[in-house]
Amino acid sequence: MKKLNIALASLLLLGSVQVATAAEPTLYDQLGGDAGVTKIIDGMVGHVAADTRINSFFANANIPRLKKLLVEQVCAGAGGPCTYKGQDMVAAHKGMKINSAQFNALVEDLQKSLADNNVDIGAGNKLLAMLAPMKTDVDNK
Ligand code: HEM
Repeated sequence: MKKLNIALASLLLLGSVQVATAAEPTLYDQLGGDAGVTKIIDGMVGHVAADTRINSFFANANIPRLKKLLVEQVCAGAGGPCTYKGQDMVAAHKGMKINSAQFNALVEDLQKSLADNNVDIGAGNKLLAMLAPMKTDVDNK
């Protein structure tokens, strides 16, 4: 009986340890996984296409490829199961002479998509915070 009790107690302990260490949802999870991130990027690119402040940059862009890489990049950066296979941000934007206002315009288009898709404010802010440090790599290169 004593042995059984010990076995039972260890089982209970194991169970609670498992609960205590259960993984926190990643930002990727909070954004709704692949479907959620895809909707956010589709929406952002839609707003960019209509945004006369910056849409000329994308006149010759390969939009399906760009969307795929953006989804991959956000997924990888937000702790999702992806590997970003595109160029680094300096190389991708070299020679485009993107200024601060143009960078901010794209961020606004992303914010519109976050709102359109009812993304949780906290998760949306985390995504914005993840992209903000890329500004120095994208601007004026
Ligand atoms: C945090 C902000 C940004 C991120 C994360 C981002 C991300 C990316 C990525 C992942 C690519 C594809 C790289 C590759 O081809 O391997 C790309 C390309 C590109 N980006 Fe950005 N970008 C940002 C800001 C901007 C801004 C502000 C503009 C212009 C106003 C811009 C214009 C472009 C253009 C024109 C391309 C090339 C598309 C093509 O030729 O198909 N990006 N960007």
